[in-house]
Amino acid sequence: MKILVIGSGGREHALVWKLAQSPHATQMWCAPGNAGIAQERLAKNSTLVECVPIGAEDLPKLLAFAQAQKVDLTVVGPDNPLALGIVDLFQQNGLRIWGVNQKAAQFEASKVFSQKFMEKYGIPTAAGETFSAAPAAKKFTVTLGGKCVVKADGLALGKGVLICTNLAEAERAVDEIMVGKAFGAAGASVVIQELLEGVEVSMHALCDGKTAKIFPTSQDHKRAFDGDLGLNTGGMGTYSPTPFLTDAELAAAAQKILEPFMRGCAAEGIDYRGLLYPGIMLTKTGPKVIEFNARFGDPETQVYLTRLENDLVELLDASVSGTLDKIELKWKPAASVCVVMASGGYPGNYAKGKPIHGLTDAAKLPDVKVFHAGTALSGGEIVTNGGRVLGVTALGKDLKIAQAAAYAAVEKIHFEGAQFRRDIATKAF
Ligand code: AMP
Ligand code: GLY
Repeated sequence: MKILVIGSGGREHALVWKLAQSPHATQMWCAPGNAGIAQERLAKNSTLVECVPIGAEDLPKLLAFAQAQKVDLTVVGPDNPLALGIVDLFQQNGLRIWGVNQKAAQFEASKVFSQKFMEKYGIPTAAGETFSAAPAAKKFTVTLGGKCVVKADGLALGKGVLICTNLAEAERAVDEIMVGKAFGAAGASVVIQELLEGVEVSMHALCDGKTAKIFPTSQDHKRAFDGDLGLNTGGMGTYSPTPFLTDAELAAAAQKILEPFMRGCAAEGIDYRGLLYPGIMLTKTGPKVIEFNARFGDPETQVYLTRLENDLVELLDASVSGTLDKIELKWKPAASVCVVMASGGYPGNYAKGKPIHGLTDAAKLPDVKVFHAGTALSGGEIVTNGGRVLGVTALGKDLKIAQAAAYAAVEKIHFEGAQFRRDIATKAF
């Protein structure tokens, strides 16, 4: 099977690495990919994965490439091409593609859509309201005593969510998004939710339009620095499983969220085939959904795919075909920890082009896989090329062992200004 993966981050490297292990994969490309992806080889015939310089949002060029190469399955990593309708476009042209269609991508692309859907179908979430005018929005924050979260409706690179603890902050947040248009058109409408307290975990489920298969739990670390200090980032590290939910509690939470989700999709004519990633707050009154993402998490994918035993080509193929009910997901009992090494200054300004040393030494360590994100090849050398640079991932018999193994690998890797958290997975202990 000829496979094209779209995207260039750590998530996409993990997808490529896992897909390349499948005996079904005979040739693979990644658009645009990164330096680590370009080093992966297929298990079946040792062919290198080829990176093609087409941007993840250049739908016409991606389509032309898939047609010219007669790609059998395209796998979409990031949210933007999904929201732009890449799945619909490929399907209209008779191509097989994994990921949600444009209608289903609304769950991530519009927080107003998600909030209304959750209320309509009884999915446990934060109490909230949606607004398209600032005065009414401000009035509502008063009813919450200012303790609220103001969310721009549309995609805002994960930055359109403002957390407020008093009325002055809430008023400023509404003004910033709706009047100052800090996130442009994404802030024409907002969702305002009550501020929930609790532990945040990531949930993933693979869906095929009828069946939703839940993954084990994982937890991301969104703030830049140890102890959850500093700015919000795309994610500085993950681990799986988390100790905050037992298997029975996870199954109960999945039932409460996924059953009404799939029922609601059927009622609304949404054919949800792809990955559903709800962000969950474990509150005193039970797990509540604080957002829906319509794709794999990054860096959640790195810990999930190192634990996954199934053939990923078969799983994604079943998700497209609607035959997931015939497959049982199998996970290694081992724990996985991913530590993100970022460029100094991330998520603010940072330099690029810094040579990365020690990758070969790190790769020699047992049970370690270094996934690349913002890396590039320059003059025969691997250099930094983005904010999040590497996802250093290790498996271990338990979380402590996996954590130690991941940090032992991190110690081997050096680049100027490297910034990473030293407490990934420590919350679990
Ligand atoms: P979102 O993009 O909606 O996941 O929001 C980004 C971050 O804001 C989440 O990861 C949470 O840490 C926080 N957040 C979102 N909604 C709430 C809420 N209702 N209560 C407390 N924190 C929230
Ligand atoms: N791990 C955060 C995200 O993928 O949105």
